[in-house]
Amino acid sequence: MHEETSAQDLVDPFGRTVRDLRISVTDRCNFRCQYCMPAEGMQWLPREEILSFEEIERFARICIQTFGFNGIRLTGGEPLVRAHLPELVQRLARLGVDVALTTNGATLRLHASALADAGLKRINISLDSLQKERFLELTRRDELDRVLDGIDAAIDAGLSPVKINAVMMRGINDDEIIDFAEFGREKGVTVRFIEFMPLEAGDIWNEGLVVPAQEIIETIDQVIPLEPVVRGNEPAERWRYSDGNGEVGVIASVTKPFCGNCDRVRLTAEGQFRTCLFAVDEFDMRALLRSEVGDDAVAKAISDAVGTKWAGHAIGQVNFIRPKRTMSQIGG
Ligand code: GTP
Ligand code: 5AD
Ligand code: SF4
Repeated sequence: MHEETSAQDLVDPFGRTVRDLRISVTDRCNFRCQYCMPAEGMQWLPREEILSFEEIERFARICIQTFGFNGIRLTGGEPLVRAHLPELVQRLARLGVDVALTTNGATLRLHASALADAGLKRINISLDSLQKERFLELTRRDELDRVLDGIDAAIDAGLSPVKINAVMMRGINDDEIIDFAEFGREKGVTVRFIEFMPLEAGDIWNEGLVVPAQEIIETIDQVIPLEPVVRGNEPAERWRYSDGNGEVGVIASVTKPFCGNCDRVRLTAEGQFRTCLFAVDEFDMRALLRSEVGDDAVAKAISDAVGTKWAGHAIGQVNFIRPKRTMSQIGG
């Protein structure tokens, strides 16, 4: 009798089990964040080069059924500029995994309840300034109010947890650390402060712009006392406010890389598979998905690619190579 085969852990050469797939659904965005894209002249991928929902669903199903992946995060560009995104969420949620989304929040008021109805659970919203003028300068769009309303829409729709991602840059927005902490406490959302990484189109990154996570935590702790929370398999280190009113996180990709616990791989909008945010090599899954080969061949390609995963990025070391893609083309 034929026995149903169960999922096999997908273990990389450094003993880490891969379980988390981040899928970029578009390279397009309605913002032009300084650190991510030039103001003009981005070359967008033609429609036919972007994976269809059917192709994405098939790839996800193979990861889940063959390798037991348990989490999928949809990213962009800005994922909500892709038409009918709730339909994709629904297809993925039906596969029985935790489906999450990372968005800039600008159009969330329009989409939050449809996303929740489709089975989206968790949402992370990027927001680097709470000041109108500064927000405009950083994103080149006067959309702070819409993003704030988008955060409320996510809460209203029952998405949980709602997390705010704030990339800190020295001398640019690091005077807002306490404002962000207070904002998170008032709204009942977790703010995560992110160290600025060398991955951008505008070439504005330099070491001097990185605000170390340790400093961020100390800054908050002096005003609103904090206690550490035991960390799971996630990039963020978590802290709770000692008065019991909420949590805050830091993602210290530069000063304290979490590569040793990394369980993630990525699929770009045009179906290139990447084993690291900073990967230099990519594996063309679209070619396979659009050929006649069966799921086994796709699974083998995934497992072969994971066999090349490196120990981690080398930010700050002489052998660091900046990826050719921008964050918006990889998906964050
Ligand atoms: P949670 O599951 O909610 O913890 O989400 P997440 O933090 O994995 O996802 P999100 O898209 O919100 O990413 C937040 C930030 O984490 C990104 O902006 C990146 O700065 C950083 N990040 C995510 N994945 C990686 C990674 O693989 N390597 C590094 N170095 N940073 C990452
Ligand atoms: N360093 C750190 N985070 C970045 N993001 C985009 N570019 C960078 C960078 N160079 C963040 C965005 C968003 C997520 C998708 O990635 O602010 O929160
Ligand atoms: Fe868009 Fe996100 Fe890049 Fe900003 S960081 S331009 S919101 S993809």
